[in-house]
Amino acid sequence: MSASQKTLLEIQNLTRRYSSPDGGEPLTVFENANFDIQKGEFVCIIGHSGCGKSTILNVLAGLDTATSGVVIMEGREVCGPSLDRGVVFQNYSLLPWMSALKNVMFGVKARFPNWTRKQVKDHS
Ligand SMILES: Nc1ncnc2c1ncn2[C@@H]1O[C@H](COP(=O)(O)OP(=O)(O)OP(=O)(O)O)[C@@H](O)[C@H]1O
Ligand SMILES: [Mg+2]
Repeated sequence: MSASQKTLLEIQNLTRRYSSPDGGEPLTVFENANFDIQKGEFVCIIGHSGCGKSTILNVLAGLDTATSGVVIMEGREVCGPSLDRGVVFQNYSLLPWMSALKNVMFGVKARFPNWTRKQVKDHS
């Protein structure tokens, strides 16, 4: 297997800016970020509050769109959320009126909308 076949994620010239609500200068969270992540690699992104950790992770997950640049996962460009990329949210992740099991079933039901309740529950 060549080195390129072991690459899981390629982050190429990734930039994310947020426009200013009052029409002023946009906020550049990161600009022209370039790095690769290999299969099996364990990577931590660290930095002070507000430095852009969640923003870049949201782009890698396909939950947010970069202003420019691309994210390539196993040779395919990331264009949106996908079941091959799990996300554990920092907060607001659970539906508090549901039990833990029902929270899991909610996701399974979204993935397999034609399954019966029993299939969804067994899978959860
Ligand atoms: N939707 C948005 N619109 C405008 N600015 C945003 C938006 N989301 C985040 N920001 C700004 O982008 C910057 C990066 O935010 P981000 O949430 O990625 O930081 P973080 O490193 O995850 O912080 P924390 O450690 O507090 O979770 C911050 O200045 C934040 O105010
Ligand atoms: Mg964060």
